[in-house]
Amino acid sequence: MSLTDSIPNNVDLGSDRKLLRALEKWQPNFIEWWKDMGPEGFQEDQIWLRTAISVDASGWANYEYVRMPEYRWGIFLTPRDERRPIGFGDEADRLAWEEVPGELRGMLRRIIVTQADTEPASVEQQRLLGKTAPSLYDLRNLFQVNVEEGRHLWAMVHLLHQYFGRDGREEAEALLQRRSGDVDKPRILSTFNERTDEWLSFFMFTMFTDRDGKYQLSALSESGFDPLARATQFMLTEEAFHLFVGETGIGRIVQRAAEATLKDPNGDARNQGAIDLPTIQKWINFWFSSAIELFGGEISSNAADYFATGLKGRHHERKKYEEHSGLRDIYSIPVVKDGRLTDEEVPLRNAMNEVLRDEYVSDCERACARWNKRIQESGLTGFELKIPSRRFNRSMGIYADHCFDLEGQIISEGEFEKRKSEWLPTAEDRAYVQSVMVPCYEPGKFAPWIAPPRKGVKGKGVDFEYVKFASSAR
Ligand SMILES: [Fe+2]
Ligand SMILES: [Fe+2]
Repeated sequence: MSLTDSIPNNVDLGSDRKLLRALEKWQPNFIEWWKDMGPEGFQEDQIWLRTAISVDASGWANYEYVRMPEYRWGIFLTPRDERRPIGFGDEADRLAWEEVPGELRGMLRRIIVTQADTEPASVEQQRLLGKTAPSLYDLRNLFQVNVEEGRHLWAMVHLLHQYFGRDGREEAEALLQRRSGDVDKPRILSTFNERTDEWLSFFMFTMFTDRDGKYQLSALSESGFDPLARATQFMLTEEAFHLFVGETGIGRIVQRAAEATLKDPNGDARNQGAIDLPTIQKWINFWFSSAIELFGGEISSNAADYFATGLKGRHHERKKYEEHSGLRDIYSIPVVKDGRLTDEEVPLRNAMNEVLRDEYVSDCERACARWNKRIQESGLTGFELKIPSRRFNRSMGIYADHCFDLEGQIISEGEFEKRKSEWLPTAEDRAYVQSVMVPCYEPGKFAPWIAPPRKGVKGKGVDFEYVKFASSAR
């Protein structure tokens, strides 16, 4: 099979010699990287996976058994609207760019490379999780997320190859060289160097970290650089599945925790092999406070530049807002002055990271309300999960130099240290969570710490054989 046949695409790859040559060199290295750093121990198994073969709904619903190294990673842009205007900033209402404007080249490349780097990073972080999957359903979902992160890398590499010439090709190569957690060649953003080595963290990652990805992609899908807008629009459709995995995964663990608490004579879910609600809350506190750093500084001149130049808009810029210059409004941010929180007024453009963070926080709160509904439905009373304040446990931005409790009130460092073990995972909590991570590979069976999903994938039953193992040793 030729490369053009094996890469599903709608970018006319067959007739673009330059792009084809660049990809021909890059693709074998990608496969090498996948075999090295992709899911360890499952490369020969048949996984029931969805492959995107075109951007319309019919091309999207393509499910079949596939070995992951043979997955057909493709390149898709949502169709071009030749009259699409730039949606915001200083150039608002002029025609969107089809080529990279010279003066924005460096900035745009940095945006694309930073986004691109997170895609392989998460695959690396999750590479050992298959060994402790709580069910075949969850194992399949993990791999679906992984191959799609691989495709997101393809989407970004396509932009680098097509629009950035030689520097783009070098950046594309470097994306396969960096390694999550590596001392010498780490991934660019620190969250993507943390370990995700048990499934509670995997679901937290897909809930909170992938959700940052959703809002970053959404802001880029408004971009005046049209190919970036069209690439990210299609990525968002895949991202929605990752968020589903995270939100419902946590929901199922919460449900099981509540049921186990009720069932246990001492009200201790751990006695029933489940993960107790206070422990889940600590993971929420940790992952939310880590993911929220990814939005960048609260008051940021970079954010202002990205908006002014038309590269990065707000979530639903065209749909939700009427005023697109961002010059007329101010935004009020609580800052610490003389040991107290006081509101400071900032020009809106400089607060764009915070505007995006607001969308994210309310989305997380919506998900949390649904988890609490599961607790209520179980019949357990007296416990409610909460999304912590965005000021809690920060290591970057304007709150990093101060300590805050879960409600966002300033506290002393001593107080924070004293209460830290109530709020964040302790070594003992981590050891407990690790101890329940025992694989469950029998179709229709689930590990005791997670409830089955309400339904299976694409009309298949919950007990469908989502993964067919090549060897019977498992
Ligand atoms: Fe992604
Ligand atoms: Fe994702």
